[in-house]
Amino acid sequence: MNKTVRAHTNIALIKYWGKKDPKLRLPLMSSLSMTLDAFYTDTSIEKTNGENQFYLNNKKQDETNSKRVFSYLDLLKRKFDCHDNLIIKSTNHVPTSAGLASSSSAFAALAAAFCKYYNISVDKTELSRLARMGSGSACRSIFGGFAIWQKGESDESSYAYALVEEPKMDLHLLAIELNTKQKKISSTRGMKDAQSSPFFEPWIKRNDLEMKQMIAAIKKNDFTALGKLAELNANEMHAINLTAQPEFTYFEPNTLRAIKLIEQLRNEGIECYYTIDAGPNIKVLCQLRNSKEIKERFERIFNSVNIVDASFGPGITYLD
Ligand code: ADP
Ligand code: DP6
Ligand code: CO
Repeated sequence: MNKTVRAHTNIALIKYWGKKDPKLRLPLMSSLSMTLDAFYTDTSIEKTNGENQFYLNNKKQDETNSKRVFSYLDLLKRKFDCHDNLIIKSTNHVPTSAGLASSSSAFAALAAAFCKYYNISVDKTELSRLARMGSGSACRSIFGGFAIWQKGESDESSYAYALVEEPKMDLHLLAIELNTKQKKISSTRGMKDAQSSPFFEPWIKRNDLEMKQMIAAIKKNDFTALGKLAELNANEMHAINLTAQPEFTYFEPNTLRAIKLIEQLRNEGIECYYTIDAGPNIKVLCQLRNSKEIKERFERIFNSVNIVDASFGPGITYLD
């Protein structure tokens, strides 16, 4: 029996960056994302009489690199009273730990593969709650299109749902892969450290307003409002990292060069905005008609940079 599950990554336009309960991964704010077609994770599960094993991209992972996956599996095993030792095989069609949201597709796929393997019937809300406990952002990858993670106040009430599963909006994303090496500060660690910023409280306070504004922009199909707000929200998140005590940043010199290029393109009348997650890579938000030109401009400035074209992707998919 081989049951492979595919989950796509999602990029937050209103970001999750701060936890109320680190164990249950309950967030301090709601978030809103776009699921991407170009990046995904395939995961399958088998039973074994030997020890638990985790293979990532066909390589058996050592204890250190398997720890997070095994402790998440322990949580699922306890919850559903399934105590087999398991072999997890997972392939990332996205750079791992580089701020391109590998944990969002990874834990959505793992939660769904586990339930599928044991024939545990869960609806998408429950699946989203399970994925959330592996990595917060994963709860949104259960759904395609635009998804909202309502922060809730407990395990029961903190989950994602689809805002629009198959959006008609002309929204294109260019992932500029400036550096795909493993980041030094994981997202879990970064958002914990960011809480020491004096701007952390204002960041949390703005969430309600920004969520409302983003939902309104999506409902009105207003690309300009969506792009401006996504860029502001990302910069707020990176501002609290820069003002944490001690400060840190995911930005690299090339991240700033990319920001400058986007400003320059806008000055020339080519409308585009950026968002940046916990890593140095930039995601450009644009409309399809401008994507080719923007891509060429990035290729001219950043020699041999890999740029991935993406648009809306689907929710969780069962492959066999
Ligand atoms: P990212 O920006 O890629 O989401 P995070 O710091 O949030 O980075 O998460 C990276 C961690 O997610 C990895 O260290 C690993 O523990 C886990 N991860 C990534 N891909 C997989 C996978 N396919 N299966 C299981 N766990 C994964
Ligand atoms: C910047 O979901 O990776 O991408 O819950 O600790 O696993 P953990 O964190 P993770 O954080 C994502 C942070 C972000 C913004 C977002 O996706 O909302
Ligand atoms: Co992550």
